[in-house]
Amino acid sequence: MISNKIDIEIIKTSDSRINQFDPQNIQFGKLYSDHMLIAHYDNGVWGKATIEPFRNLSMHPATTFIHYGQSIFEGIKAYKGASGQVVIFRPEENYKRFNTSAERMQMPTVPEWLFMDGMKQLIKIEKDWIPKEEDHSLYIRPFMIATDPFIGVRPSALYKFMIILGPSGPYNTEPMKILIEKDFTRATPGGVGFAKNGGNYGASLYPVVLAQKKGYDQILWTDALEHKYVEEVGMMNVMFVIDGKVITPSLERGTVLKGVTRASAIILLREMGYTVEERNLSIEEIVTAHKSGKLEEVFGVGTAAVVSFICRLAEGDYVMDFDLTKSTVAPKLKKKLNDIRTGLEEDKHGWLVKI
Ligand code: COI
Repeated sequence: MISNKIDIEIIKTSDSRINQFDPQNIQFGKLYSDHMLIAHYDNGVWGKATIEPFRNLSMHPATTFIHYGQSIFEGIKAYKGASGQVVIFRPEENYKRFNTSAERMQMPTVPEWLFMDGMKQLIKIEKDWIPKEEDHSLYIRPFMIATDPFIGVRPSALYKFMIILGPSGPYNTEPMKILIEKDFTRATPGGVGFAKNGGNYGASLYPVVLAQKKGYDQILWTDALEHKYVEEVGMMNVMFVIDGKVITPSLERGTVLKGVTRASAIILLREMGYTVEERNLSIEEIVTAHKSGKLEEVFGVGTAAVVSFICRLAEGDYVMDFDLTKSTVAPKLKKKLNDIRTGLEEDKHGWLVKI
């Protein structure tokens, strides 16, 4: 059962760590703000939520999610514009995707008051943790874990929903080198590739480390059945510019994450006059385009990644290098997204939720 009641208790810390926050020197994912939101689900009901001082969790060693991976998350960003206005970028889309992930992982959906109002209240309290520097933001990490102290395999009866926040700089600080992956698989039709569950990321680490040993930063996953079509990069969706057109793998098979930045990029690119195709894109088409000089750019899009430039893409020994000084689409898209998020450009789609 989902309650519609807004019931969030606030307990403030008397020991702020804000003096550890140096806006000039922030890495992604290293520092967390003073407070977190936590809510408990028991017997079919979400109970009261609390915004309380950030703390460690204490758990029974048999806690379900530790053993069987019933764990989902989202990544969202809040920005502080020049005028000091705080905005969150398209959080309703993440809210919808969170509940889609919850259903696939046999977890309870989270009511809007808890996810959206809880997030807004938490950010309001933590607004001094939002960096204003270019390419910086407050990274918002809502997540849910199954917390039954039971080691049998069955859906948990207890869950915790939490939101933590961390000031963040760029996730990828340098242009990326990407290896096309044809031996390992991220997602299969009927699997959990469209869900943001922790295991999808855990399972990616082994092939990524193998690629890193060969000098690459990340891998570009291909479809599980034939390893013929490209799907997504480690933690971002991917876009190709071939002969002036932007092509991005379609979501049809349920094996590509429905990225919020991906969806926003498609809208903005079309408004900027580009043809954008969402469809199957084969490695063969990419290599053929490269050989004929028509593969102009490859770049990643994601909440953490924003727009990440790719300077090298390789299929086995066939290496495709890109002169990023000639890129036009990715830099224009990055600027457009940043200008909207920071209020330099009108938010005509109503993507920004003001705090
Ligand atoms: C995000 O872009 O927010 C993600 O969730 C990727 C992450 C695993 C860093």
